[in-house]
Amino acid sequence: MMRSRWNDPRVHRKIGVNMSRYLVTSALPYANGPLHLGHLAGAYLPADIYVRFLRMQREDVKYICGTDEHGVPITIKAEQLGITPKEAVDRFHEVIARDFQRFGISFDNFSRTEKPEHYRFAQEVFLDLLEKGYIVEKSMKQFHCDRCSRFLPDRYVGGTCPQCGSANARGDQCDDCGSWLEALELLEPLCSICGSTPVPRDTTHWFLRLDAFQEWIEQWLAGHPDWKGNVLNYCRGWMDEGLRERAITRDLDWGVPVPVPGAEGKVLYVWFEALLGYVSSTREYFRNIGDPEGWKRYWLDPETRLVQFIGKDNIVFHAVIQPAVLHGLGGYVLPWNIPANEYLNIKGEKFSTSRGTAVWLNDYLAYFPPDPMRYALAINAPENRDTDFSWDEFRARNNELADVFGNFINRIMKFAHRTFDGMVPAPGEAGEAESQLMSSARATRDEVEDLIRGFSLKTACLRVMELAREGNRYFDQSQPWKTAKTDRESCATTIYYSLQLADALRILFAPYIPFTCERTGKMLGREALEWKEAGCENLKPGDRLGRPEILLEKLETGFETVIYDDAAPETTKKAPEGSPDVRETVPYEEFMKMDMRVGVVTEVHEIKGADKLFRLLVDLGDHVRQLVAGMKPYYTAEELTGRRVVVLVNLQPVKIRGVESNGMVLASDDGKGRVRLLQPADDAIPGDGIH
Ligand code: MF3
Ligand code: ZN
Repeated sequence: MMRSRWNDPRVHRKIGVNMSRYLVTSALPYANGPLHLGHLAGAYLPADIYVRFLRMQREDVKYICGTDEHGVPITIKAEQLGITPKEAVDRFHEVIARDFQRFGISFDNFSRTEKPEHYRFAQEVFLDLLEKGYIVEKSMKQFHCDRCSRFLPDRYVGGTCPQCGSANARGDQCDDCGSWLEALELLEPLCSICGSTPVPRDTTHWFLRLDAFQEWIEQWLAGHPDWKGNVLNYCRGWMDEGLRERAITRDLDWGVPVPVPGAEGKVLYVWFEALLGYVSSTREYFRNIGDPEGWKRYWLDPETRLVQFIGKDNIVFHAVIQPAVLHGLGGYVLPWNIPANEYLNIKGEKFSTSRGTAVWLNDYLAYFPPDPMRYALAINAPENRDTDFSWDEFRARNNELADVFGNFINRIMKFAHRTFDGMVPAPGEAGEAESQLMSSARATRDEVEDLIRGFSLKTACLRVMELAREGNRYFDQSQPWKTAKTDRESCATTIYYSLQLADALRILFAPYIPFTCERTGKMLGREALEWKEAGCENLKPGDRLGRPEILLEKLETGFETVIYDDAAPETTKKAPEGSPDVRETVPYEEFMKMDMRVGVVTEVHEIKGADKLFRLLVDLGDHVRQLVAGMKPYYTAEELTGRRVVVLVNLQPVKIRGVESNGMVLASDDGKGRVRLLQPADDAIPGDGIH
């Protein structure tokens, strides 16, 4: 057996006998779209597993994150959606926070970089480094698009990567090779707004003097030879190339303003500022719990272990820029480890919104519980190389979990209810098989502990699964269904030890599949989540067991058509009960019964005594209709007149306040009082049908 580090004094110093203080972070996701599986597999699920494990070890741990709400990724998205950046980040922050929560990502704080507290902190840091001479002002050349008459920061320029030749590079980085680029280095640059070729022009910016930190960073990195190979490799590449000054401001009107007179229209570069979001989110957390100085224990005490989960495209920012900034400020802890992951791909390529290959978390969660995906992603984690997601693999993992773990719990629970009245039976003496089983459980516990502490989360998960298999074998070989009739004491022994193993599995699996383990705990009458209890005899003879429930459902081939394929048989397409956002499916024919058309509002009239309603006349090309619409709280009569709208024309006529309404104007509604009319495309014509 591997020696557990739980009691190793070299690992646990000062804070307490067995305790360290951990500050765990996941890369702040851009609030520019919903989450997909690629996000989860890289920076969030692994961190959550690690954090849940540490909590079960009674370590002092805080898990900090938030949305990254500035920079060009946001402004481009907002432009695409035709909304303001502020509207975009408000919307996506909520979507992201909700989905993380439903997936069981257990942040202690999930903040936003749009918070005033973050602005203040980022500006303070800028000024501090400016004063210390680590930031300098300089004039530089930057791409300008003359057609759009604006400078083109970061992703506003696209082109060919000078490092790897990929044609998908953008002005800030190349996702294909992970290089951090300056826009001017791009080959064949193009303005991403209008597609014309930009020209370099002079502008003024502030630069972080990374070169001043080169030697110090090299030394610091040399102190971490145990880090993952991918992280060290990237860093070595950076160091060999030599660190240069980097511009940390941009010409943009969205972001944290550069806090210097005369810097109008310039904001802090999102990367410089977002990294500080880890600190400001921690500060917010402690202020919220009434301990405004508490953040200092985590950020200013060198004993803190700062562990930062990220994807590989974030390595340079966390392992080079962030330490430079924090060291420049002085007194801050530096990352203790940066377990960066590679990418989770789909069919060998990155998840892509534009190619429609992304698997959105929200879509998944509308049909399935979180745990099977948590398990599948943990086993298939891109820990050391890119891995590929497929629905086949997901189904196989789901079914494995159901067969091996779900089924084991199910069998013994049923047995205990049928044969021992729903109570933990009193065992006879433990034989060879029982001692072996329990010692395997403890050995697995200690081995898994070492693996998780060493960030081998995938192997750790496989080990727990092996223990579950061993449990099944023990149960099968003991043949309790026979001994129930011939040797009741032996049967009781089997069930007693199987229940102990079920409890061990519930504990060891809890970081991975917390929802399922909680339900298992209810069945076993056990709630405590103490890592060290795994493999001990925690259930006592006579303890009452809960009602048995099916833990996990198996999936048939082709199940994923539920999410994707309209050719799926009708029977598989029903959204399951309790699906949070999707209403029951309707057959195509039902939908086609709706007759919707493009119209133009020609007249708007008040209705006496109605403060929410308007009477509208809508021209539908070949005829004019009268409608009553509850638009008064949202639009003025002037705003509505002349507006092109979408009308459901075959809705049953009704009389509202004595006025006949012949159809319905369609609008979006955020459920909280924001209602906006649907607007047909500019070149759609009144009378056009809609399908
Ligand atoms: N928003 C960035 C991304 O999704 C990550 C930012 S991490 C931070 O790639 F620390 F800078 F916030
Ligand atoms: Zn342009």
